[in-house]
Amino acid sequence: MPHAFMTMVLDTLRVTTDQKPEARLESRSGANVHAARTSDGHAAYLKVTPATLGAPAIAAARRELRFYAEVAPVAPVRAPRLLDYLDAESGVAVLLEAAGETRQAPAWTTSMWADLGRDLAGLHGMAIPPGADWQHPDALQEALIDPNLDEINSFWAPMLPHLGELLARRVELMEQTRALPPAFVHGDCHTANLVHSAGAIVFCDWQAAGIGRPASDLAFLSVRATPTGTTVPPALVNAYLGTRACDRRTLQRALLAEELAVFVFLWPVFAAFNTPEGIARVRRRTRELAQRWLSAEAGVA
Ligand SMILES: Nc1ncnc2c1ncn2[C@@H]1O[C@H](COP(=O)(O)OP(=O)(O)O)[C@@H](O)[C@H]1O
Ligand SMILES: [Mg+2]
Repeated sequence: MPHAFMTMVLDTLRVTTDQKPEARLESRSGANVHAARTSDGHAAYLKVTPATLGAPAIAAARRELRFYAEVAPVAPVRAPRLLDYLDAESGVAVLLEAAGETRQAPAWTTSMWADLGRDLAGLHGMAIPPGADWQHPDALQEALIDPNLDEINSFWAPMLPHLGELLARRVELMEQTRALPPAFVHGDCHTANLVHSAGAIVFCDWQAAGIGRPASDLAFLSVRATPTGTTVPPALVNAYLGTRACDRRTLQRALLAEELAVFVFLWPVFAAFNTPEGIARVRRRTRELAQRWLSAEAGVA
């Protein structure tokens, strides 16, 4: 993090951070997230994206800022309140109210998953916000069109007997992920981006928000929970279906295709962030999903 930009952020927003800049919270985006305190003493989080991280990182930071400023006030889900921000040539910073604490996937109760299903149904049912362009690159669709075969083969070939068939039928897989009409999605929906406050779920980290596949938010919860040994219970999808009118079979087929496609086509690069045990769990789940997908296609399930 260039020191000059951080200094400018702290001066302009008049905040102090509780920790040393090196002490990072869970962050895969490259942005620095700091627990902070406002000048009047309120607990807050400061998310700083310097321009040195590159154009895509800045575009994502501006998308998140636009979400907090324009969409969050009218969205049917809770998000941290935007207290202040800085949008400059040298970077973007958002100052957010401290909205609660995360809980790791294994600690989520069935009723929490159900609450999340209802919240996501509300979000996906919201009209696409007007004005800004909420389209953005889609890593899964890109990987299905032009897969990195070396990477996929070296991670999966020894472990996934049906890999050849999945690769050959990837257009079908892609079409199924898109079976539900596009909606406004969170785009990075996993338990580390969800905080809990007074029984409600507050959605953080809106850098990937925009027009997308509803199945992506639901399936990604399972993608990220799997290495922890957690199986997302049916309560998530049941509550979603109880809130939003869509065909159960279509949704379930889209979810299966989405989760399977993410594991096969995108997950090999993320394996490096996981423990051997986490990787083994992903391999087991992917084999199960592949079997389920292939037998459903044959008309068995
Ligand atoms: N407003 C907030 N209230 C409570 N916790 C937050 C808030 N903003 C961020 N966090 C915590 O900081 C972590 C990293 O922030 P996040 O916005 O997800 O950054 P990144 O894009 O780097 O993943 C989150 O996973 C969450 O635990
Ligand atoms: Mg995050």
